[in-house]
Order: sequence, then C-alpha cells, then structure tokens
Amino acid sequence: MSARIAIIGGTGVYDPEILDDVREERVETPYGPVTVNLGRFEGLEVAFLARHGRGHQVPPHRVNYRANIYALALLGVERVIATNAVGSLRERYAPGHFVLPDQFLDFTHGRPATFFEGGEAGVYHVDVTEPYCPQVRRVLHETGRPLGLTVHDGAVYVCTQGPRFETPAEIRMFERLGGDLVGMTSVPEVVLAREAGLCYASVGMVTNYAAGLVDYPLSHEEVLEVMARNVANLRTLIMEAIVRIPAERACGCAQGSPLAQRLRAGARAGSEPR
Ligand code: HPA
Repeated sequence: MSARIAIIGGTGVYDPEILDDVREERVETPYGPVTVNLGRFEGLEVAFLARHGRGHQVPPHRVNYRANIYALALLGVERVIATNAVGSLRERYAPGHFVLPDQFLDFTHGRPATFFEGGEAGVYHVDVTEPYCPQVRRVLHETGRPLGLTVHDGAVYVCTQGPRFETPAEIRMFERLGGDLVGMTSVPEVVLAREAGLCYASVGMVTNYAAGLVDYPLSHEEVLEVMARNVANLRTLIMEAIVRIPAERACGCAQGSPLAQRLRAGARAGSEPR
C-alpha cells in the first residue's frame, strides 16, 4: 500500500478518524518498525502517523524521527503536513491561531538528526535554506482564509529539547534571537524530511503564550485543553489543504540527498503510488 501525502499528528492529534477505510500497516525500517495508518480521503491515499504514539507515550526527545520519516518515504509519500503544538513569543500569535513556520532555530541536543552517519551511510550536508516547503505552505495559508481561520505564514520556530517547558530567561533570549514560536518537535523531523527529499510543512497550533509572557505557570494540561478546543479547525484546515495541493511539485524539496533517490526507487519497486 502506498500514499503520496502523509499527516504527522502531534500533541492532541492522535486519530486517523478523518480518513475512510483506515488500515494499520507496520513498516520495517533500518531504524525500527513504524505503525502507520493508511486511508482514503476524497480519492487520495493518505498516511497518518501519530508522532507521540496514540496515547502520547513517547516524549519529544525520544521520538524515533528517523524511523518515522524513513517509513513515510518507503510508502512513497512525497508531501508531509505535520502538526505541532507551539507556545507563542509574539502577541500577534494568539492561542487558537495557526502559524506556518518558514525557518527554525535548533536548541535540541543528543537527538539522532541525520540519515548520514558516515561510514556506509556516507556523509552529506543537506541544504536547509528553505526547510519548510513553500508550495505546501502557500496552499495551507490560502486554505485557511475562506474557512475563517487565522493562519499566519512565515515564522521562526525555536525547537527546544524538552520535555520541560522553558524558563522566562530562555524565552527572552529566543525573542532576541528572532524566534516567534517555541516547540519541542519540529527538529530533527523537518531536517530528516529534507534529507529524504520530502516536502514538509508544519502547522503550528498556538496553545499558549510562552513562559514568562503570562503571569501563571505553564502546564501540559493547558496545552491539551487548547488543542482539544481547536483540533476540529486544525483537521478541517489540513484536510481542505490536502485536496488542493497540486500533484506536480513546484519546489526544490525533491532534490533532497542521494538517499532521496534511493528511497524513491525503493518505494517504486514496492508498490506504485497513486
Ligand atoms: N514551549 C514548548 N513547547 C510547547 C509550548 C511551549 O510553551 N507550548 C506547546 N508546546
């Protein structure tokens, strides 16, 4: 079974219920097995992967990002839309808004962040001038307006290691460095997608103003609660966007790396994507 488009569901987005005829598939990768749900939406084959597992049992620093992206590439996926709960560093990005990052600042450490570990895997330096696919981002942005949703295009996502939230001092530092949003999961996911030659866009769902910008402590419950209130909008935005994405890729994402060609060849050899 194959799919051209995948959704990686982050915090609060665990169910592939939006898809029809959903079936579960276990995909074997060199980094371990991955469970992916495959289903149909308006005639398209769509893959769904819950980043943290169905019951949010995997914390951000322990997600097997390499296995997830590799599995999607093996399935023939070309476009990935990821959801990420984010804290806002800017007043204009209010809880309930959607923000599409176009850049990131990486403050993670110790996460396996490349398919190119040297030796047999080789050495490769992927270009991340445009880490988030401009074509998929444009479709998401244009889809939001007629739906009455607030979708901001272009923001700097600061990826922290987690699982703790930030100190107010860290947030002040991130603000000065040009950060707009803070979250724990976009890196290395977006980088691995670039290495694998996949288009990758992230829909940041603002769940809170970042630490120190409000006069109460942050909690995962608050994040989940705001997410739960807005998850229907998030689903609508993504599913409406998926059907509007042109079949032809008009971006540089496919170039990826030598691995991208190998994975595409592997996917073609397995089953022909629709
Ligand atoms: N910080 C880090 N990750 C987050 C936040 C935050 O404030 N909100 C949602 N995910």
